[in-house]
Amino acid sequence: MKTGMVNVDNLSTKEQGYTQAVDLLKSGEVVAFPTETVYGLGAVATDEAAVRKIFGAKGRPQDNPLIVHIGEVAELEAFTTNISSLAYVCIDAFWPGPLTLVLPLKEFSLAKNVTAGLDTVGVRIPEHPVALELLKRLKQPVAAPSANKSGKPSPTKAIHVWDDLNGKIPFIVDGGTTGIGLESTVLDFTTDIPTILRPGGVTKEMLEKVIGQVNESKFTDDVKAPRAPGMKYAHYAPNAPVYLIESSIEVVKNAVADIHKEHKKVALIASEQFGQTAADYFFSLGKENQLEDAAALLFDALRNCDGTDADIVLAPVFTKQDVGSAIMNRLEKAADGNYYE
Ligand code: TXA
Ligand code: MG
Repeated sequence: MKTGMVNVDNLSTKEQGYTQAVDLLKSGEVVAFPTETVYGLGAVATDEAAVRKIFGAKGRPQDNPLIVHIGEVAELEAFTTNISSLAYVCIDAFWPGPLTLVLPLKEFSLAKNVTAGLDTVGVRIPEHPVALELLKRLKQPVAAPSANKSGKPSPTKAIHVWDDLNGKIPFIVDGGTTGIGLESTVLDFTTDIPTILRPGGVTKEMLEKVIGQVNESKFTDDVKAPRAPGMKYAHYAPNAPVYLIESSIEVVKNAVADIHKEHKKVALIASEQFGQTAADYFFSLGKENQLEDAAALLFDALRNCDGTDADIVLAPVFTKQDVGSAIMNRLEKAADGNYYE
């Protein structure tokens, strides 16, 4: 399959880009498009055959449900029921935005492969002009996981989608670099106390200010039936193994020296202050303590490791406060929990 890519930030190709994307979606095809978090790979959420193509292109396990994207709150009614008033408080406060709500699914309203057979559905209104324009023109809910090959870091640039899915999907809407850089927070509203299943741009601290107590699932992979099924799979991994390491310049310098003694090369993914540690490759996550910047740069940095001949990737840990919780969740997955000692 030939993969087309059109930039919709460019006035001369904008109209063509949207028209082509909408026509393809309506005809049962998949299309990649930017959101404020990461690029998504979308299909019309009521079209089972189209949704099947998403799983095929990504190599995604069938038991991992997809997030449904809508352009307006009014569209919720068609496929959810019994939405609590607390959920509506969240909707008012955070939509459009990087918050996915898991809500009770209205039976037979969506293709069943969207929800992997669950009786709940994850849904959000994205806060990206391109995603919103697409949804507004299409006027149908769009099921869209991140537009990466399954297991790879999510795409924050159109070129990342191209690298992973060229030849496997018909079209990429290029809308530049995504802003937040980590996937949305997934908040389960089908438990007594709302539970964060995946940390993201909307933090526990932000949620608790608006709706009071929020639980955090442990985000571990060893549970038999994780509430967010996607959390049990290997994720975000470059080809070389990733190790977390204490956030100390001294400790990192020593680790790099040790690795060099074994005639191995090391890539370092860290804030700027780690730039002088003699690693063979350094991918900056921005200024120290700027968590939003680190979030925005993380997936690109992980992907850049694959363009090197590094044998090992080191990543100093971040605080788990605020967006640090989402950053560490992704890093721990990329490292499969491994620490460099
Ligand atoms: O920011 C995002 O959320 C991006 C953009 C494209 O919107 N999408 C995204 O989708 O990250 P994906 O498929 O890569 O991650 C969806 C996560 C998975 O961990 C999945 O298991 C969980 O959400 N999820 C989806 N529906 C669910 C449901 N009904 N119950 C529990 N977890 C659900
Ligand atoms: Mg994903």
